[in-house]
Amino acid sequence: MDEIVIQGGQRLDGEVRISGAKNAALPMLAASLLTGGRFCYTNIPDLKDIESIRQLLCTIGAQITESPDGLIVDTTGLNDVEAPYELVRKMRASVLVLGPLLARLGRARVSLPGGCAIGARPINMHLEGFSRLGARITLEHGYVQAEAESLTGNEIFFDVPTVTGTENLMMAAVLAKGTTVLRNAAKEPEVTALADMLNAMGARVSGAATSTITIEGVDRLYPATVRVIPDRIETGTYMVAAALTGGCIRILNADASHLKAVIAKLRKTGTEVDTSDGAVMVTGRRPVTSVDIKTLPYPGFPTDMQAQFMVLMCIANGLSMISETIFENRFIHVLELQRMGADIQVSGNHAMVRGAARLSGAQVMASDLRASACLVLAGLVAEGTTRISRVYHLDRGYAALEDKFRSLGADIKRVRPKPKTADGPGTEPASGRTEPRN
Ligand code: EPU
Repeated sequence: MDEIVIQGGQRLDGEVRISGAKNAALPMLAASLLTGGRFCYTNIPDLKDIESIRQLLCTIGAQITESPDGLIVDTTGLNDVEAPYELVRKMRASVLVLGPLLARLGRARVSLPGGCAIGARPINMHLEGFSRLGARITLEHGYVQAEAESLTGNEIFFDVPTVTGTENLMMAAVLAKGTTVLRNAAKEPEVTALADMLNAMGARVSGAATSTITIEGVDRLYPATVRVIPDRIETGTYMVAAALTGGCIRILNADASHLKAVIAKLRKTGTEVDTSDGAVMVTGRRPVTSVDIKTLPYPGFPTDMQAQFMVLMCIANGLSMISETIFENRFIHVLELQRMGADIQVSGNHAMVRGAARLSGAQVMASDLRASACLVLAGLVAEGTTRISRVYHLDRGYAALEDKFRSLGADIKRVRPKPKTADGPGTEPASGRTEPRN
């Protein structure tokens, strides 16, 4: 399996272009199942998770082609209503086909995703929501089946805001009879981007970006041409890279308005962030001041930036309390950071980071997407060589990561370990990507 090898200690300077947002592209691609026709997507990121959803859409019967105008998804003739285990196993977001298939075809069958490294991640709120719209839900042989002759609008209250749950219910409700009101809905920019796409298709969705989303059902939807919003988590990761290495990075194709909580915290660390000229300019300053972080649903500090920010706190002056409130097991990266010399103590959902650590390069293992990004950042600032294994996690969510970091001056490469010999293991340059897993 490929490894990422980083020689730490380089200051990162220059420009980097952000790709389209994975977590916006996935529901937007699933939304093409809502009606037959030819959709055109631009700014789709080149990621394993996108390959997975493309494979899933094709299994269901969509025709997908690349064109100079963008990615064309033709959903005219669907021939299946099932997301099989093999695909859901690779990517939990496959559950996003439930809502649109149920709305269009009255039936959907999706393998239950099960837990993943960062937590149990149930989909009970998705299923309760579909029931409230009149669907019959059955769980059998590891699959969830949803069926309805027709869906009828209703009020749905989420116990906690759920991003993909809100997206799934929005997609189910657009063709329902009457009005659906989603309360305590997720306010993430990716949810708003999906609502914008649905409205461009002829849906009547209002209140996105607030906690109450109202969907008035319509009889017909039409294909649309859509552009995926920039990836705010990729943007935040490069912002932290500048802060961490004391460098100066100009981030292009980013939307700073989606990163207010991250920018506010970075500024408190002493990092300069300038968003005045259309790009995001981040300049790392010394010393880095410790700050406390608590992850929350948007517009709070994103859980998807917690691991990356923890690395910055490792080299900051002082103590930082990092509290994770979204997922119950999202500190797996701590063990690897400790092996690199970080001083972190975990108690429940709190991690106390004692700063001023001198990180030293080590062989470490990625456990999930954002934990992998955190290890890359740690490697960039550590003394000596860091080797990160299980990098298929990174390929799920960071487009051209090594190329982008290399263009900023990082000493980073991907290698494929040679088979072990009597003389011990060796490495050779990697030629391709490996299978992603949850
Ligand atoms: N939850 C339930 N029941 C449900 C749904 C969610 O208990 O039916 C709980 C979850 O276990 C969690 C909380 O509600 O404790 C919030 O989870 P949410 O449903 O919002 O997460 P998600 O939709 O599964 C998306 C992103 C994640 C991101 C979270 C939180 C996509 C495809 N995934 O997941 O992204 O961390 O929202 O912002 O949009 C990543 O990109 O690395 C990633 C994990």
